[in-house]
Amino acid sequence: MAQPAWMITLNVQQPAWIITLLVSSLVFIVFWFILKNSKDREEDYDGIKKKGFKIRNVYFVILFSVLLGATFYTITDLPYDRPPEFVNATEVEVEALQFGWDFSQEEFEVGEKYAFHVTSQDVNHGIGFYDEDMMLLTQTQAMPDYTNTVYVEFEEPGTYQILCLEYCGAAHHLMIHEIEVK
Ligand code: CUA
Repeated sequence: MAQPAWMITLNVQQPAWIITLLVSSLVFIVFWFILKNSKDREEDYDGIKKKGFKIRNVYFVILFSVLLGATFYTITDLPYDRPPEFVNATEVEVEALQFGWDFSQEEFEVGEKYAFHVTSQDVNHGIGFYDEDMMLLTQTQAMPDYTNTVYVEFEEPGTYQILCLEYCGAAHHLMIHEIEVK
């Protein structure tokens, strides 16, 4: 007779529990050993420790001020405007869904400017535009209830690949789409 599911779970859990306990104890013993052996020589480091703490404090204050300044300086530009050369771009709607891409148009022209508005019907995906040599041109996230826009001008004709860049489920690797650039 087959074992009930809970019994199988228990059979696996018991060894897992014991192994976890053993490994944790081992880690504890190693740490305790190192700690015990390092205590005797603590005074050797006193001088250099003080100096180290001082450098660390100075470094922290400098880093904090620089990053705080940079944050305030850059945040005032948000949200970023559309790049001026893309003001009259052709608008393209892109919707991601498990597991494919829905484009409002499939054919594009070299030298034309496009604004791809990318969203998702279900979970988070990532959209990557690849040229014929599988070089990544641009990418953004495809998120439910939100639209990210990427601006693209294709420089070469060819068949471009659209790949999902964020693991989104069992068939993530099949989320491939092709668009034509003429
Ligand atoms: Cu969609 Cu991975």
